[in-house]
Amino acid sequence: IRKIAVLTSGGDAPGMNAAVRAVVRTCAYHGVECIGVYRGYEGLIEGDFKPMNARSVRGIINKGGTMLKSARSKEFRTKEGREKAFQNIIKEGIEGLVVIGGDGSFTGALVFNQEFGFPVMGIPGTIDNDIFGTTHTLGFDTALNTVVDAIDKIRDTASSHNRLFFIEVMGRDVGHIALNTGIAGGAEEILIPEEDLGLDRLKESLNRSRKTGKTSSIVVVAEGDKIGKNIFELKEYVDENMEGYDVRVSVLGHMQRGGAPSCFDRVLASRMGVKAVETLLEGETNYMVGLKNNKMELTPLEQAIKGKTKINLELLRVSDIMST
Ligand code: F6P
Repeated sequence: IRKIAVLTSGGDAPGMNAAVRAVVRTCAYHGVECIGVYRGYEGLIEGDFKPMNARSVRGIINKGGTMLKSARSKEFRTKEGREKAFQNIIKEGIEGLVVIGGDGSFTGALVFNQEFGFPVMGIPGTIDNDIFGTTHTLGFDTALNTVVDAIDKIRDTASSHNRLFFIEVMGRDVGHIALNTGIAGGAEEILIPEEDLGLDRLKESLNRSRKTGKTSSIVVVAEGDKIGKNIFELKEYVDENMEGYDVRVSVLGHMQRGGAPSCFDRVLASRMGVKAVETLLEGETNYMVGLKNNKMELTPLEQAIKGKTKINLELLRVSDIMST
């Protein structure tokens, strides 16, 4: 392989820039040309390419977002779109592709490989931590720290006014962000999709907290939780069914995806970038690089996409005990 392309796709995540930097520099280290593709698969279809060398990625390891921009491409889901992308790749002389993104992006990479036999390698980049084959996706650790910082700040105002706050965090269909930040932020209750505790339990636990002398409360709600009410309906439920609560809602939203990556994410991105390029150079394809037992490990893309990440049961128990 003499020329490798790199793109970022799907929702951006802190650490994507650090991963691009690592891919570009590993290519330079091995004397391989590197091409940056803008706006994910859209750029592949439009031929939006830029040759990159070690200096093109200076000053980005500490930046949130992605310098290559990101997109969720509808056209790449069509055979015609992928055909156009392949023609551009051939014209440019690209011989391998590193895709930094989530499971939707990996599905695109896998289909592309199956259709054209083109070598692809995945780096898991999403704040949700919902990819099988790695204990941490890029951006997860930074998002956790951002959310905990927000919870701490909300707690200040919650306790000054004796209020109950429902705080909604991202995570799509999984509760990793909610569970971890709920524990770290000292939440009274954490609502996650993996475990529907039900409204009665919520009521019970809030009342119990109050009886033991708590004057303010934080409930962290994963955006994908299954309690059957959205966060505003939860407020209404408490307003209508429980006496004496002054309830506020805070939806943290996209601020969770921004900001400088944590040290952990920068190191992880660097390791993943090196591993992805070197695995391609060894002639492998269709893998995702991931972190397992503090080692870089490969997982077939197919498994990474289909495998279910499990919620840490021990964390669930800790959160239960902490909210006593
Ligand atoms: O996958 C990352 C994520 O931020 C999810 O947590 C969230 O559900 C989704 O993307 C939001 O997507 P969009 O940026 O398209 O609103």
